[in-house]
Amino acid sequence: MRVLVTGATGFLGTSLCDQLAARGDEVVRLGSKNCDLTKPSSLTAFDGVKYEQIYHLAAWTQAGDFCLSHPGEQWVVNQQINTSVLSWWRDRQPQAKLIAMGTSCAYPPEGELAEPRYLTGQPIDSLFTYAMTKRMLYVGLLALASQYGLKYLCLVPSTLYGPGYHTDGRQMHFIFDLIRKILRAKLYGEPVVLWGDGLQSRELVYVGDFARIALRLADGVDNELINIGAGREFTIRHFARLICDRVGFDFRRIEFDTSRYVGARSKCLAVEKLHRLVPDLALTPLEEGLSATIDWMRHELERKTAA
Ligand SMILES: NC(=O)c1ccc[n+]([C@@H]2O[C@H](COP(=O)([O-])OP(=O)(O)OC[C@H]3O[C@@H](n4cnc5c(N)ncnc54)[C@H](OP(=O)(O)O)[C@@H]3O)[C@@H](O)[C@H]2O)c1
Repeated sequence: MRVLVTGATGFLGTSLCDQLAARGDEVVRLGSKNCDLTKPSSLTAFDGVKYEQIYHLAAWTQAGDFCLSHPGEQWVVNQQINTSVLSWWRDRQPQAKLIAMGTSCAYPPEGELAEPRYLTGQPIDSLFTYAMTKRMLYVGLLALASQYGLKYLCLVPSTLYGPGYHTDGRQMHFIFDLIRKILRAKLYGEPVVLWGDGLQSRELVYVGDFARIALRLADGVDNELINIGAGREFTIRHFARLICDRVGFDFRRIEFDTSRYVGARSKCLAVEKLHRLVPDLALTPLEEGLSATIDWMRHELERKTAA
């Protein structure tokens, strides 16, 4: 199958493209260097081939408090990126199914995070603009499917983890920040200070699992919004204990800074629809996924220290 992937150079894109290539697909991998999607004509160079599937992963964001301090830029950049992709799909690739990524922060924080509520209520203040650009992406999919009969899929991941995340100084999702701090404490004697009281809960999905599920849903399901989560969340303290056990660091040495931004208190996607569509769903056990992620991060830290 011929597949084009935006955001192919990112954390998820790398894993997804590897799986597409491994099953024999012809994959065109786009990042901001070979296709800056903020430019309206950026995709013209790819007009010549008719793709069966387009995975749209590109987005301009970071974890932590980045969204809080960049709402204006995020609005413009992400709307430009999404409009470039949606208009190219309609005009040049209407035969393709577009598989786009949503976000769990698009849901209003109160109540169940279930698909029918994706466009209802108001997202959390600190992630409002980013969340609304993701909602608008979904509205774009609905609108183009309705007027032109195009096929889409919108997948809503919970936080992804696994080897291969960025280590270039951009803000990290909580689990990578946690692992990095505990490893640095163990290796270099630095203090571990975590944001908040550690009682906020999060769920994780292993990046390779997400890519595998996305490929399967993309091949079999049309015109749906689907949450992809583990269905189970744990406190930051629980994750920290597991990491400490693996790294060999005393959990009691961790300090909690309750003055810092922590986002939503709880975030766990409803996954009944996912289980209906993928009844034999099997996810990497948390301890196993964390071990692989810790080993990868330790290697990265040691490599950088040696350089
Ligand atoms: N990671 C998660 O836990 C998570 C959770 C929920 C949703 N998602 C969604 O899943 C998707 C992938 O996430 P990720 O973690 O893989 O993100 P990531 O590592 O930050 O990768 C972002 C990708 O977007 C590309 N990009 C950024 N600006 C661009 C531009 N102007 N033109 C073209 N490409 C551009 C980047 O290219 P460069 O490498 O060249 O900069 C990179 O390939 C995103 O849509 C994200 O919102 C991720």
